[in-house]
Amino acid sequence: MRLTFSLLCLASLALPGLASGQTRLVVNADLGKDTINRHIYGHFAEHLGRGIYDGFWFRPDDNAEPRLRDDIVEALKAIRIPNVRWPGGCFADYYHWRHGIGPRAERPRMVNALWGEVVEDNSFGTHEFMELVDRLGAEPIVVGNVGSGTVQEMADWWEYLNHPGGSSLADERAANGHPEPFGVSFWGVGNESWGCGGRMTAQHYADVYKNFAEFIRRMGPVRPFRIAAGPYADRRLAVEMNNWGDPFEWTETLMREAGTDLDGVDFHYYTFARLFGATSASATDFAEKDWIVAMDLALDIDSLITRHSSIMDRYDPAKRVWMIIGEWGLWHDVEPGTDPGFLYQQNTLRDALVAGIHLNIFNNHADRVRMANLAQTINVLQSLILTRGEQMIKTPTYHVFDMFKVHQDAVLLPVDLDKTTYAFGTDSVQAVTASASRDASGRVHITLTNQDPNQGRTLEIELRGTNASRVSGRVLTASAMNAHNAFEDPDSLMPVNFEGARLRGSTLTVNLPPKAVVALEVQ
Ligand code: AHR
Repeated sequence: MRLTFSLLCLASLALPGLASGQTRLVVNADLGKDTINRHIYGHFAEHLGRGIYDGFWFRPDDNAEPRLRDDIVEALKAIRIPNVRWPGGCFADYYHWRHGIGPRAERPRMVNALWGEVVEDNSFGTHEFMELVDRLGAEPIVVGNVGSGTVQEMADWWEYLNHPGGSSLADERAANGHPEPFGVSFWGVGNESWGCGGRMTAQHYADVYKNFAEFIRRMGPVRPFRIAAGPYADRRLAVEMNNWGDPFEWTETLMREAGTDLDGVDFHYYTFARLFGATSASATDFAEKDWIVAMDLALDIDSLITRHSSIMDRYDPAKRVWMIIGEWGLWHDVEPGTDPGFLYQQNTLRDALVAGIHLNIFNNHADRVRMANLAQTINVLQSLILTRGEQMIKTPTYHVFDMFKVHQDAVLLPVDLDKTTYAFGTDSVQAVTASASRDASGRVHITLTNQDPNQGRTLEIELRGTNASRVSGRVLTASAMNAHNAFEDPDSLMPVNFEGARLRGSTLTVNLPPKAVVALEVQ
């Protein structure tokens, strides 16, 4: 594959009319047909570490009522967060929903054996989650418990959330303060059922899935959108390093056995640089080798999507079933001095590039990838927001989601990008990624990443099939690979106006800085 990149790179230099060192990108503004589903820009919040408690949910010390944090809600609304997946993750298969309803003081306490063995007081449960998504204007994605729950328990939760009234469960919901049904449609049937969700084989899970899914039925106006646990997408981690089963076989078995009974398949894929040659697992203290390994792994999601999609195509050629990348992001070591079970990590320009790469790739697969959830919104893994007491900071990843939000529900414009490579030592990866869309008002949006931390790239962008007269943009970059925001300096890394784009006729020349994410708007 790397050899192919090099040949394509040489070929691009030889293209007529292209100056040496320039890379050509064609934006086919006349060929758009697929919509970029806004749910690609989705999120994930598990009962893990300080994601919910000390994240979304503020529990004052003085016995005052706990509450959602307004500053966090406002920050997430600003990037138009379309959905939140909850309560896990692995925690979903330990969670019993009845523990999280009714008067808070009476809710049972359990040990969160998975994540730090902390006592979970269940003060954040169903009604609190629904209040959160309501305030965000986002869709809830509820993941039901398959691993340690029962079919009846899951069906009861579904009825409690969605029955219009008159059944005992709907009346109980009303007594708990919500007479109206919540109207939850997105429904996960277990999580990582090959691992923490029950260590099942593909065939066993497919049978169990059909059993549980059968009892999640239309309720009043709510049609269930049933999501099956997909594989860990990458074979190396799933088979060579763990005993999670072959991911391609999982996709094949699930689609063959249950493909007509499901609406989405939830694939997981993390950028685990430390497992694939990085010299440091620190989020902030790393070398260029660690940078390029992360870029390489992030770029791999492209071919993984293609391979899993081709299996799905055999059983679902009309692409009715959504491919969901339900957990993704960089997984570093925890910040020094923090609980290893809490997965709290800082977030640098490297995370921003990894986010931009994933989102460009997801956009370009919009015909099959219709939902994705970054892991995990606040204080856990590749977060949008970090908190310390009442302070909060927006991470570089937050800013990438802000820059890319214009693609939500826009029409994907296919792009042809000549390959240009970035090399370090014996490693070499694609240097640039791009995606483009046209929004409802006719504006064209182009998002770009330059993975090369040392060299800029000059892109000659041909805007095919559109008349353009104006370009503007924003760029996120810094001089250091590990630039990040800290509580002492919360806005040191933010997008600024981009002055590096010039429009002449239908040609846009862009001087893409090194290690940068750029978003352009063309009118
Ligand atoms: O996001 C952390 C964990 O990673 C999730 O709980 C699990 O689904 C995955 O393995």
